[in-house]
Amino acid sequence: MKPFRILRRMTDRGEDTKHVAPGRDPDPAAFRSLTTPIRRASTVVFDDLDSFEARASRLYDGYSYGLYGTPTSRALEERIAALEGGSRAIVLPSGLAAIALATLSVVRCGDRVLFPDSMYGPAKEFFGGLLERLGVEAIPYPPEIGEAIAERLDDRVRMLWMESPGSQTFEVQDVPAIARAAKARGIVSAADNTWASHLGFRPLDHGVDIAMQALSKHAGGHGDLVMGSLAVSDETLFRRLKDSARVLGYGVSADDCALCERGLMTMPLRLRHSWATARSLIAYLSSRPDVLRILHPSVPDHPGHAIWRRDHRGAAGVFGLLLPPADREAQRAGLAEMRTIKIGASWGGVHSLIAPGDPRRNRAPIPWLPEGIYWRLSIGLEDEADLRRDLAAALDAIRTRRRTTSKIAG
Ligand SMILES: Cc1ncc(COP(=O)(O)O)c(C=O)c1O
Repeated sequence: MKPFRILRRMTDRGEDTKHVAPGRDPDPAAFRSLTTPIRRASTVVFDDLDSFEARASRLYDGYSYGLYGTPTSRALEERIAALEGGSRAIVLPSGLAAIALATLSVVRCGDRVLFPDSMYGPAKEFFGGLLERLGVEAIPYPPEIGEAIAERLDDRVRMLWMESPGSQTFEVQDVPAIARAAKARGIVSAADNTWASHLGFRPLDHGVDIAMQALSKHAGGHGDLVMGSLAVSDETLFRRLKDSARVLGYGVSADDCALCERGLMTMPLRLRHSWATARSLIAYLSSRPDVLRILHPSVPDHPGHAIWRRDHRGAAGVFGLLLPPADREAQRAGLAEMRTIKIGASWGGVHSLIAPGDPRRNRAPIPWLPEGIYWRLSIGLEDEADLRRDLAAALDAIRTRRRTTSKIAG
């Protein structure tokens, strides 16, 4: 059917009406592209009174209002559920929104939530701020606690978060042991699995109830998308998440969902490439005497190395770099050498990023982590030689500055 034949049939309608005549899918059967079509909508229309009134029953499947799901968002959710090894998934406006939604769906006033001290900073702010104000006690635990978490579980603990490896210090958690302890007491467990992603580790396969990912990182992959996901295997839990998303007004645009689906298509390739480059850069950095420590679970002296090898099927090219203490000017001089690597927060995309920051802030003491300059690096898809040049030049600049300062001081 020609697209505007419908307008030609509207001979009994006015000009204004013809201009706003609903758009149409002219020939869906004949036009078969390889991508999920972008179906934008707030309004969904119905044929009659009965189907309009029954729309509330279409919250979990089918369509009632654009905020609650479009064919594009449902397609992405189905793909994520399958990739995570779950039965259902929900996409949310950001990774942080996914953490908040999962928590708010599970807890009630008077409950306790446990979370690893190494967890993503803004999530800790949510736990310690808004959640505490709602009467939910949020208690950090040492990330490497393993099965000893059982000693911290009581009847008030309703939810147990994990994040492995941690966002900044990369502690690897014994997720299977912690999930087992939670299950034994009927506590809902959830894991922020953004670093490993479903490609490296699938929390649901290891007994976790809710697998969360900030899709803004590896899945989006190009530094231009903010989105999060929760995947589950339990229909009741899924409906609780979906109900909470509805009353909180959380929805994701079809355009963003399409962008995310495109990102997912190249994600395995991108992750493999970024990890291969990161691995050589880690080898190079390890050979430098002016590097104190590399925080990546693949490094044999990393405290979580053994668990990572046991549980994970791959790695992300995202790691921390600890350099000997130096003054702010030295750090500034080092970062000024970055030609290819950009200074910026976030990670997991095609562009290499460096984020300076102190991982000890808002943390209990980290006994194994010495003092020094800390940078988090996310390795993208640029030539390894360009990235190595930046890092070598930065380390040289810091060393020169350190020598000059100590000479002046001497
Ligand atoms: C581990 C981890 N979880 C969650 C988030 C939050 O994701 P978003 O930026 O999409 O809210 C981030 C973002 O940096 C993160 O690093």
